[in-house]
Amino acid sequence: MSKKDTIPVAGLSIYDPVHLGIYEDGHGVDIELIWRNILLAGEPGAGKSVGLNNIVAHGALSPNLSLWLFDGKQVELGLWRDVADLFVGPDIEAALLALERLQAEMDRRYRELDRVRRRKIDRRDPIDVIMLVIDELALFSATMGSKDQQDTFVRLLRDLVARGRAAGVIVVAATQRPSADIIPTSLRDLFGYRLAYRCTTDSSSDIILGRGWASQGYDASTIAPEERGVALLLAEGGTPRRMKTAYLTDAQIYSLVDYAQRLRSKKTVA
Ligand SMILES: Nc1ncnc2c1ncn2[C@@H]1O[C@H](COP(=O)(O)OP(=O)(O)O)[C@@H](O)[C@H]1O
Ligand SMILES: [Mg+2]
Repeated sequence: MSKKDTIPVAGLSIYDPVHLGIYEDGHGVDIELIWRNILLAGEPGAGKSVGLNNIVAHGALSPNLSLWLFDGKQVELGLWRDVADLFVGPDIEAALLALERLQAEMDRRYRELDRVRRRKIDRRDPIDVIMLVIDELALFSATMGSKDQQDTFVRLLRDLVARGRAAGVIVVAATQRPSADIIPTSLRDLFGYRLAYRCTTDSSSDIILGRGWASQGYDASTIAPEERGVALLLAEGGTPRRMKTAYLTDAQIYSLVDYAQRLRSKKTVA
């Protein structure tokens, strides 16, 4: 290990903004994910998993955060497995069990908040924020398992996205075109942040961002196929902004995992 790698640096916190990339004008894109959820969508190869990896990296480097990773393809988030508290591959039964556990934990936290007459958890609470990250949502909501299991998956996920925020449960999900059969509009609308990567038509862009944005000039189908990692970011109540996500190489991820493990085991990083 080179000397440079041994410089001790403090970990991050999920209560601090998460770096996603840069806007067209060169300003950094840093989003507050605490008490929020984010949906990333767009065609295959557009850059969704790369975007997810940035968010997971921040989560991994935040010792007060528990990572729950769902990866239908197994290899997109697989590099983070050693720092995740839970990793679900292409297994709908394991996915349902995990969502039920998370729902029970969310309910437990609400009971506790109620008991101490508080509305939401915050930075001072000695309780981990949980980040649920799902890559290729459609595999769980529309492809694997029976119709019943898929419906249960969507129902549980909707509850977590709708109610999880104040209890310190952040949902980060990526999917190809979120058509109604894959992700119902009622679920999509619950995501405070939406990141629309390249898609093929203006109507699929609107499906991601919400009705009407394409006709006002915010159309993710105008992103060229070679512009990988470019997307329109819509934050609650705002106007979509064109940005490009940061990119972590596998080698960088390996060293981040290594570093995160040391942070999390509370050993001195020296
Ligand atoms: N921000 C980025 N900067 C540079 N290359 C990127 C970026 N985002 C994506 N890419 C390239 O595009 C490829 C596909 O990205 P990926 O995230 O796997 O797409 P998706 O998950 O949407 O199918 C990556 O392997 C990478 O080569
Ligand atoms: Mg992907």
